[in-house]
Amino acid sequence: MNLQGTTALVTGASRGLGRAVALHLAAQGVKVAVNYRHQRNMAELVVAEIRAGGGDAEPIAGDVGAAPEADALVAQTESALGPIDLLVNNAGIFRRSSLDEFSESEFSEMRRVNVDGLVYVTRAAARGMKERGRGRIVNLASIAALGTLMAGTTFYAATKAEVILLTRRFAMELGPFGISVNAIAPGFILTDMVYQNRTAAEADALIADIASRTMLGRTGRPEDIASAVSFLLAQDFLTAQVLTVDGGRTDYISHAG
Ligand SMILES: NC(=O)c1ccc[n+]([C@@H]2O[C@H](COP(=O)([O-])OP(=O)(O)OC[C@H]3O[C@@H](n4cnc5c(N)ncnc54)[C@H](OP(=O)(O)O)[C@@H]3O)[C@@H](O)[C@H]2O)c1
Repeated sequence: MNLQGTTALVTGASRGLGRAVALHLAAQGVKVAVNYRHQRNMAELVVAEIRAGGGDAEPIAGDVGAAPEADALVAQTESALGPIDLLVNNAGIFRRSSLDEFSESEFSEMRRVNVDGLVYVTRAAARGMKERGRGRIVNLASIAALGTLMAGTTFYAATKAEVILLTRRFAMELGPFGISVNAIAPGFILTDMVYQNRTAAEADALIADIASRTMLGRTGRPEDIASAVSFLLAQDFLTAQVLTVDGGRTDYISHAG
């Protein structure tokens, strides 16, 4: 499918991977709703960059993990930019923890945003997609759900395993309506998330360590994920798939001694 002239909602697009996805889609002539939760100024910068390049975009506030806000951000997108053809469920949070330091409130907040948020926004956007008989959805999972054993990511990984399961089940449920649902499982990509809950020195050591155990010898850039999301959105006969985009990190772990 040629994406030119379609409308996309990208959740969590004020920064990081969502921002890169929004810019990449806009460069292909897609009208983009740039959702954010807190950082309106960052979302407005993304929108300004798109408009400066001749594209069409709107900043759309809303917490994906609150059902009424998810409904509202879908409605606002459609009234500003037209019916949603493409949905990228990107908004997500990471809280580092182990079993010993398990925090109920942090786990439930991760699940609220990473899992409930994806369900609420998908439900809201799918209503119109079903009526129109077409739609493309891409969810952001993580290689954490596939078993990279990075310390402190167990409960985050559990939320991303749910994302993978929901991707396949929603693909089943929405396929008869002409809607595809796929996921990307990114590897280690340099965004704000990498620096959260770590000192700069810890983050730098982690980056060097991961790059040394990745087939392509580097960590990922947001654009690496944006081009993969865009690829999935353009496919006509591909659904229920999880595409790992990690420079060969999980395979390095499988194959190295
Ligand atoms: N970076 C990686 O290495 C990596 C690897 C695997 C998977 N992922 C996944 O990729 C996605 C993006 O990650 P990232 O690294 O780009 O994260 P990030 O840099 O921390 O950015 C998170 C984005 O999500 C938004 N957000 C957070 N909570 C939200 C909520 N409740 N409602 C709406 N928006 C919300 C933030 O908005 P505000 O700016 O307003 O706070 C921000 O735009 C996440 O699902 C993450 O789990 C990332």
